[in-house]
Amino acid sequence: MDYRGKYILAPMVRVGGLPFRMLAAGYGADITYGEEIVDHKMLCCERVENEALGTVDFVDKKSKDIIFRTCDAEKHRVVFQVGTADAVRCLKVANMVAGDIAAFDVNMGCPKSFSTSGGMGSALLDKPELIHDILTTLRRNLNIPVTCKVRLLKTCGETVELSRRIEKTGVSALAVHGRRVADRPRDPANWDGIREVVSALSIPVIANGDVFDYSDFQRMKDATGASSVMVARGAVWNASVFRPEGMLYWEDVKTEYVKRCIEWDNNVHWTKHTLKAMIMHFSNVEFSEGKALTRCKTLAAVADVYGLQSYYRELDVARGGSGLSRELLFLT
Ligand code: FNR
Repeated sequence: MDYRGKYILAPMVRVGGLPFRMLAAGYGADITYGEEIVDHKMLCCERVENEALGTVDFVDKKSKDIIFRTCDAEKHRVVFQVGTADAVRCLKVANMVAGDIAAFDVNMGCPKSFSTSGGMGSALLDKPELIHDILTTLRRNLNIPVTCKVRLLKTCGETVELSRRIEKTGVSALAVHGRRVADRPRDPANWDGIREVVSALSIPVIANGDVFDYSDFQRMKDATGASSVMVARGAVWNASVFRPEGMLYWEDVKTEYVKRCIEWDNNVHWTKHTLKAMIMHFSNVEFSEGKALTRCKTLAAVADVYGLQSYYRELDVARGGSGLSRELLFLT
């Protein structure tokens, strides 16, 4: 994996499943991160090759929920992001998925209490020894690139010091979200802060924060000197942000997303969550589309909302009636 000159889909909980990653890649994303998955959750999973879909699924042994789904077509660009506070657990997860992914990333930026209360996400930023332990353990034992994603610390000096320590662990790249833990998403990202990190390191830095348009990728590269640029919300609002020719109409992108969800038999709750995040930026989820989505209990019902019933049925028949057909039985 080369981290230079890349436009990257950011990790996003409940958004960055296989359909969204494939959608973004179809529009030009070079590297696509999966959502953060907590180590404990992954360790309850087994690896299953899903022949009907052509995917590799990591399935919770008890609940049978699919925790991580990937496929061959994205193997060279998909990054698995873990939520962890323990080097041994983290390595166990990495060993489970290493053969199916392009790189392994540790989340060190999530400020949400579900992450920090377990010592994960941004809670790691106060523990440089633990960061060192996790990253060196991964580096010593894995044959794929290891990276991590951090936020800016309170001062520029502190951020640079921590980044240098991270670089010494041998990671292949460092992603920097240009906000501090206390900042809110609406606060502007501090591109100058990212530039300071870039100047201090030799490894590729992936700059993240406030990319909403294709031209922003180059603007951010120029402003920060970063090797690569990563986008989160801009991609949710319109995944065709990666298209050099310009963005497509967002309603069409949304329909394409539903098609990808049908294609990869996405979890209906995740599908609805992502669609609502897309809708919220342009409209109001209280309007008829949002209400219709709320009522959907199956992916077939979601397909119906977007006029994709025949697409759904065609795929189901082509697969010889896999899991999708079971949903149809509920409907009829
Ligand atoms: C995020 N972010 C995030 N970060 C991370 O490291 N792991 C994750 O799982 C998530 N999940 C997530 C979900 C959603 C819906 C959003 C909007 C964001 C943070 C994200 O990757 C990124 O760092 C920030 O959103 C800043 O980038 P943008 O939005 O300014 O491009």
